[in-house]
Amino acid sequence: MKQTTDFLKMKENNEKIVMLTAYDYPSAKQAEEGGVDVILVGDSLGMVVLGYDSTIPVTLDDMIHHTKAVKRGAKDTFILADMPFLTYHLSVRDTLLNAARLIQETGAHAVKLEGADDVIEKITALTRAGIPVCSHLGLTPQSVGVLGGYKVQGKDVQAARKLIEDAKKCEEAGAFAIVLECVPKQLAEEVAQTISIPVIGIGAGVAVDGQVLVYHDILGYGVNRVPKFVKQYHAVNPFMIESIQAYAADVKNERFPEDKHSFTMKEQELKGLYG
Ligand code: KIV
Ligand code: NA
Repeated sequence: MKQTTDFLKMKENNEKIVMLTAYDYPSAKQAEEGGVDVILVGDSLGMVVLGYDSTIPVTLDDMIHHTKAVKRGAKDTFILADMPFLTYHLSVRDTLLNAARLIQETGAHAVKLEGADDVIEKITALTRAGIPVCSHLGLTPQSVGVLGGYKVQGKDVQAARKLIEDAKKCEEAGAFAIVLECVPKQLAEEVAQTISIPVIGIGAGVAVDGQVLVYHDILGYGVNRVPKFVKQYHAVNPFMIESIQAYAADVKNERFPEDKHSFTMKEQELKGLYG
């Protein structure tokens, strides 16, 4: 299993870091078998697994519940878990207690926090307490209300400069990596070259230190439309629906179960049963 220091070495050696989300036992098992470097238990689970419109309704208990299942499915992979909405804003003390639960109750290796500004002191405190932190900059979905939608970030000089400064602050505060979401590829490259911790991109071009995507998006599982930055490797949804339709038709037409799916009672016992 890779550690936070390995990710730093991978950046130095120009070896890309592969991150993928997982939310339960089977997806975690598949991610591990698929050879990802990091499994992210993203709060995107609110949208792709729980059916909410955003990540805002996701609770710490939701994250703990799902991260435990992921850990059972991927015992040999580095697991990063998202701190959900408003669990790292009230105070340093609350942040430490919430992160401690997320780590201790699940066996996750690190936590991810969106934003810089007021979050910087939380990154410092967590790192000092021994909890590795991954930052998340650019499009930060927990702030969708303030950002005014899911839009590309850092498109003008001022916003781009702020993003570079924020990345530096996260590094100084002790973050071991930064997830950078939905920013122009040139800006993402600049950030990756400016700081020495790995930058994991999503919708951030190829000139960064690794990539992360959502499990359901790359598989076309349960999702109808995927964002521009997603590469969908298969569309499993039609196969799953076809399987369910075939099962339903088989039941209606008595094509299922067949004899091979059925249990048989011995002739002698049958006689006894019928008297
Ligand atoms: O929740 C999530 O899946 C994420 C990734 C999109 C980076 O934060
Ligand atoms: Na997230």
